[in-house]
Amino acid sequence: MVEVLMNKLREIQEKEGFLSEKSLKELSNEMNIPISRLYGMATFYSMFHTKKPGKNIIEICASPSCFLNGGLTLEKFLINELKIDIGETTKDNKFTLLKTSCIGCCNIAPAMLLNGKPVGNLTEKKLKKILKKCK
Ligand code: FES
Repeated sequence: MVEVLMNKLREIQEKEGFLSEKSLKELSNEMNIPISRLYGMATFYSMFHTKKPGKNIIEICASPSCFLNGGLTLEKFLINELKIDIGETTKDNKFTLLKTSCIGCCNIAPAMLLNGKPVGNLTEKKLKKILKKCK
C-alpha cells in the first residue's frame, strides 16, 4: 500500500510540481485514505514538496561525509548568497533551498542535488558558477 501511495504522490508531483492541499484532498477521496496520512508522507520524505518550489531546487547534503568535508560552510554560503533560509524560496522564484540526508555521493563530498541531479566536489567558487548559470 505504501508503495502505491508513494507512486501516486510522485505522479502528482511530476505533473504539478508539488503536492498541493487540493491534490492531497483529491487523492484522499480517491483512495479513501485520511488526508493526514498523505500529508504525513508528503512531509516526511524530503523528495516531496508541499509548497510550490522555485525553478531550481537545491538540496544540500547534511550527512556526515559532506558535513565533515565543509558542507555546513557551503550551506551557510548558499543561505547568504540566496538570502533565504533552508526550506525557503527566493522572491524571484528561481531557487528553493533544502537540506537532504546522504544522496549516495559521499565519494564526491560535499555534494548536493540540483533539480534532482547530484553535483559534488562543491566549493564556494563552484556554487557561485552554478547559481549564476541557473539565474
Ligand atoms: S554524506 Fe553527503 S552524499 Fe553521502
